[in-house]
Amino acid sequence: MTPATEPPRSATGAGLPADFVWGAATAAFQIEGAAREGGRTDSIWDTFCRVPGAVRDGDTGDVACDHYHRWRQDVALMADLGLAAYRFSVSWARVVPAPGVVNAEGLAFYSDLVDGLLARGIEPWITLYHWDMPQWLEDRGGWADRGVVAEFEAYTRAVHAALGDRVRHWLTLNEPWCSAFLGYAAGEHAPGRQDPQAAVDAAHHLLLSHAAATRALRELDPDAMVGLTLNLTLADPADPQDPADVQAAALHQALVNDAFLHPVLHGGYPPEVLDAWASAAGVPHVADGDLAAISAPIDVLGVNYYHGALVSAAEPAPDRVLPRPPAPPRPTGNPMLGSQGHVVRRDLPRTTMEWEVQPDGLRRLLVHLQAEHTGPAGVPVVITENGAAYDDVVAADGTVHDPERTAYLLAHVRAVQEARAQGADVRGYFVWSLLDNFEWAHGYAQRFGIVHVDYPTQTRTPKSSARAFADVIRTGHVRDTSSVQA
Ligand code: FCB
Repeated sequence: MTPATEPPRSATGAGLPADFVWGAATAAFQIEGAAREGGRTDSIWDTFCRVPGAVRDGDTGDVACDHYHRWRQDVALMADLGLAAYRFSVSWARVVPAPGVVNAEGLAFYSDLVDGLLARGIEPWITLYHWDMPQWLEDRGGWADRGVVAEFEAYTRAVHAALGDRVRHWLTLNEPWCSAFLGYAAGEHAPGRQDPQAAVDAAHHLLLSHAAATRALRELDPDAMVGLTLNLTLADPADPQDPADVQAAALHQALVNDAFLHPVLHGGYPPEVLDAWASAAGVPHVADGDLAAISAPIDVLGVNYYHGALVSAAEPAPDRVLPRPPAPPRPTGNPMLGSQGHVVRRDLPRTTMEWEVQPDGLRRLLVHLQAEHTGPAGVPVVITENGAAYDDVVAADGTVHDPERTAYLLAHVRAVQEARAQGADVRGYFVWSLLDNFEWAHGYAQRFGIVHVDYPTQTRTPKSSARAFADVIRTGHVRDTSSVQA
């Protein structure tokens, strides 16, 4: 694999600076397992996994990657890859297993993990909420009930009390769009509700919870880096000459991106988003002071990018319908409240999630953010997730060669490099994911890891993409694609 001579530098030349943050990301429910150990109680995902037909093959998070017991080995893997940072989430149900109860044993797990990372020179980046609300809290109304805000602040304070002496990087939420609209409108994710008004309220309460946690962290540690992670897309009109397509694409992007970017960075919900929500559900209940709290300054915007979308106003011809991966049987609703747009298939390669591979979308998104959102707000961006699912094959000699994932990752790192060359202030890149893991409603069928996990034996095998990524980290450069495809 290692060429004898130094490979050609990437087309953009410049490479990435020495202080660029290279990391890998995971989330508690997707890797930890130990669902009933250490005082943890059910989260909404434990409950959802028991709903017939909700998760492919009836998979659960009971064992997952058994990271709860194997974290030392996983930290050693990270060190071997040369990671500077590790983004992981804390399980709220492990820390607050019942109303008003702070579970010292749950916090001790994360405290040991933080120590283990720091001992290897790996900076912990904590996500406080990556989709696994305690079931007891959902039973009180979950994100749809405003009472969640005080609970999230209390949880944040408990985590900070245990880890804040060592953790400098905090992300309050992961992808609140998914929590609100996949969880409460489409019912595709836990808690599986299909109630549009609850989804809109959930979106607002997620943002208020981000605000409350940010305020608490600032008070407790004025020097900490605090931000949140959004899933962002780039929507293009199917026919740029057709005003209906242009409008449909703009609304698609507004419902995913601007519904969260605007309140956080510009202090209000965009009118077209409120109109769309109103046409399908209602508008969120916004109290005095909410928008000012939500738009308090952040230190970083985490961007998760997987794919863009080509959008048309009219229903696409059958051969232009974007396929969906084998789905769990439970019927789901439309998360894009108030949108009449359709996502149209392009002639692009797709991953096994049926997500289109469009690295230039990442470059364009980052340039757009710099021009319209994060740039004017003076907020740097970090890619907190990017990656791809493919069907990996373990060779007879035990190795896993994944040229498609390798090409995906390197093309996206190159897009980051190009965006930086065009002025986008991007400071880091975290691959999704360190390990193959529980991919939500797709269970274990979709593999995103740069490290293969054989679930029956829990054997970890770095794939060839892990070696390619380690090489990028070491050199700060993306090798020529021809050399990575080999
Ligand atoms: C993101 C999630 C992450 C993972 C990837 C594939 O939306 O944040 O947990 O499932 O997609």
